[in-house]
Amino acid sequence: MSRVLLFTGKGGVGKTTAAAATATLAARSGHKTLVVSTDTAHSLADTLGATAGAEPTEVSPGLHLHQVDTQKALERQWGDLRDYARGFFAELGLDEVTAEEITVLPGAEEVIALLELREQARSGRWDVIVIDCAPTAETLRLLALPEALDWHVNRLLPVGRRLLRTLSPLIRRVAQVSVPEDHVVGAGERLHRGLLEVRELLTGPDASVRLVLTPEAVVLAEARRTLTSLSLYGYRVDAVIANRVFPAEGADPWRQRWVEAQAGHLAEVEQSFAPLPVHTVPYLDAEPVGPAALIRVAEAMYGESDPFAPPTVDPPLRITPEGELLLALPFAEKGEVDLARKGDELIVNAGSYRRVLALPAALARRSVREAVLRDGLLRVRFQSGGPDD
Ligand SMILES: Nc1ncnc2c1ncn2[C@@H]1O[C@H](COP(=O)(O)OP(=O)(O)OP(=O)(O)O)[C@@H](O)[C@H]1O
Ligand SMILES: [Mg+2]
Repeated sequence: MSRVLLFTGKGGVGKTTAAAATATLAARSGHKTLVVSTDTAHSLADTLGATAGAEPTEVSPGLHLHQVDTQKALERQWGDLRDYARGFFAELGLDEVTAEEITVLPGAEEVIALLELREQARSGRWDVIVIDCAPTAETLRLLALPEALDWHVNRLLPVGRRLLRTLSPLIRRVAQVSVPEDHVVGAGERLHRGLLEVRELLTGPDASVRLVLTPEAVVLAEARRTLTSLSLYGYRVDAVIANRVFPAEGADPWRQRWVEAQAGHLAEVEQSFAPLPVHTVPYLDAEPVGPAALIRVAEAMYGESDPFAPPTVDPPLRITPEGELLLALPFAEKGEVDLARKGDELIVNAGSYRRVLALPAALARRSVREAVLRDGLLRVRFQSGGPDD
């Protein structure tokens, strides 16, 4: 299995730089490395000082860059889905949707890039896969998508398909709207399965997220919310990267004020994200572009630690042998977390994020006895018998 490393954080904090530096170090350490961006801007290639090709291209010894061509990938993979959308929109009296327009949908580009990534992960070619993710909110929504979809698709597809078979001639006549043909539902299912596999890969035992921030109050507040929601959705975060730390030596009064303010925020980061390691990167005197500068960033970032070792942090969601469900929700406050039970599922809301958890068979038939949130850990206890006793 490949070691998968994801980089996320607020816009502009240095995600691409941290991802490129980590990938450069991986290749330099002898790992066969793939670095991928879900970002359509070509920042990753620019940062590496390289030109990307449509397929993974070797940009320095052992380091391959994949800049997904979302248009091509879309045409290749989801042509029939696009055809359906096109017909559907046309019948609603809207202009035809083109493949170009589908990729304008929020998150579509990243979804496609991640689907392509799944194929790379499957190929077994890579020791390390580094993913430069979109800024916080988008990445989160995107990462939550497969599971949320799973919930809907599981409910809708089997019934929907049966219904469609019986009703489609009627719907066609009454609503004058196209109903998906069987092969289109097939494409929908395929897409759905693909997304679930991506999620399995990104939440699996060999994957972890590195949260990039700069030591500033606003960035820190967002990083906290990001950690809560990543945890809610089952992604392990194994390190925090504090980028653009002003060096203290030789500071003039202006810089001295930044140094002091950042020191305060850094202490807060260390304390509140503990036990996660916090790797700091100094504010350099030039943009770190190209392999030589990136190696220096990586060395400053990781020091003596091995950034490619398997993650040692626990997965956020665990079920104890006693049948208790434990979900890490770091920084979550009591007032913003609530639970609902719906059939075999437990719905957890934390702030503005929601996760629908399919309960394992052993718990699915038991009602919730007690749920406690303490020190960022949600502990749910179930009744010992079935839901009716
Ligand atoms: N430690 C550093 N010292 C100096 N410049 C830096 C440092 N880290 C990043 N930069 C520069 O800051 C800019 C933004 O960095 P980067 O592109 O990595 O951020 P990002 O989080 O990927 O941004 P976006 O959210 O737009 O994708 C780049 O010009 C980069 O070269
Ligand atoms: Mg970037």
